[in-house]
Amino acid sequence: MKIISLLGATGSIGTQTLDIIREHPDEFQLGAISVGKNIDLARKIIGEFQPELVSVQNPMDYNKLKGEYPHIKFTYGDDGLIETAVYDKADILVNAVLGSVGLHPTLQAIESGKTIAIANKETLVTAGHLVTEAAKRHNVALLPVDSEHSAIFQALQGEKTKNIERLILTASGGSFRDRTRAELADVTVEEALNHPNWSMGAKITIDSATMMNKGLEVIEAHWLFAMPYDKIDVLMHRESIIHSMVEFHDSSIIAQLGTPDMRVPIQFALTYPDRAPLKSSQRLDLAKIGQLHFQDMDLNRFRCLHFAYEAGKAGGTMPTVLNAANETAVAAFLSGKIRFLEIEDLVEKALSKHKTITFPSLQVIQEVDKETRQYVDSLV
Ligand SMILES: NC(=O)c1ccc[n+]([C@@H]2O[C@H](COP(=O)([O-])OP(=O)(O)OC[C@H]3O[C@@H](n4cnc5c(N)ncnc54)[C@H](OP(=O)(O)O)[C@@H]3O)[C@@H](O)[C@H]2O)c1
Repeated sequence: MKIISLLGATGSIGTQTLDIIREHPDEFQLGAISVGKNIDLARKIIGEFQPELVSVQNPMDYNKLKGEYPHIKFTYGDDGLIETAVYDKADILVNAVLGSVGLHPTLQAIESGKTIAIANKETLVTAGHLVTEAAKRHNVALLPVDSEHSAIFQALQGEKTKNIERLILTASGGSFRDRTRAELADVTVEEALNHPNWSMGAKITIDSATMMNKGLEVIEAHWLFAMPYDKIDVLMHRESIIHSMVEFHDSSIIAQLGTPDMRVPIQFALTYPDRAPLKSSQRLDLAKIGQLHFQDMDLNRFRCLHFAYEAGKAGGTMPTVLNAANETAVAAFLSGKIRFLEIEDLVEKALSKHKTITFPSLQVIQEVDKETRQYVDSLV
């Protein structure tokens, strides 16, 4: 029996993690959760899984729930996220919270020796050097949950890093893959949230439409697999059947395939190095699919992908700025304050204004993150 602590239990990855726990009651138990503001769903999760520790975002919700469930320990805010991340009985932390708010809890969980299934890519983008260095120092496994990184991780089982020629991340192209830039000027939030292949949280769905999601994933792959940026390529693949690939020096390519279902990589991170059946997942029928399509990425069309490569190569605090500017701009788009193409304009402005600080500490990263959010907010 593995005991799980889960950050972001009410989100898209969080609820799919609960599906896995529900499907394997003899193997997994939910020990601790954090939620944000969705208290109705938190109540349902508490009722079904009876976790020992629950963290909420706001003190008001904390006071409300504490009265309703006297036998459960509650906590709140950023400290609550940390308390959940280091929950002493947990064998594994699933970090499925949204945004760079996940950084500090991740670092604390590493310090306390937890294995981490990491979905929260913003953490690796904003401070990949701190996270991977701490994981190495404490001999802690960082297991990828993102489908592309799980695919690469699976393709690398039994392989040596020295034999890798390049990593190939596949990209569905998001909601607007068939539109020209001119056609993007007046797209609505609703249209942007209509992803052709995956059902995900709002922020990552917008990131997929701007292609920033793939940019964040390039940086995530750089840190998770210690790969230089010139060995990480992105390939448009409309069907999201090949989740990513690794090419080796001998020209062999190993790919991982499956129907688009996030529960598969989530479960693999939880059962690793073993596998378990996943009855509720649909099996891949290649004969029925018939054809798969591939296309080079156009970095002029998808500017956010270009920015991410540039920020990643610049290193230091530049990816922190990329991420903070993007989080702020996407939130502004989702609340109707800016237009779709203004997301990338704001990210570009924040990046051009910033002078990279090399080898930043956690404190410097937190300061740069805050300053960038304030700057982008002032432009909004
Ligand atoms: N969704 C996917 O298929 C997918 C795939 C690969 C990677 N990821 C990554 O996984 C992470 C989560 O994505 P998602 O799509 O699951 O997001 P989501 O559906 O928006 O869920 C985010 C979760 O984080 C909580 N949260 C947000 N801000 C918080 C804060 N300040 N303090 C405490 N809790 C907070 C939310 O709580 P409330 O809802 O209760 O407010 C919710 O539980 C992201 O880093 C994303 O890039 C997602």
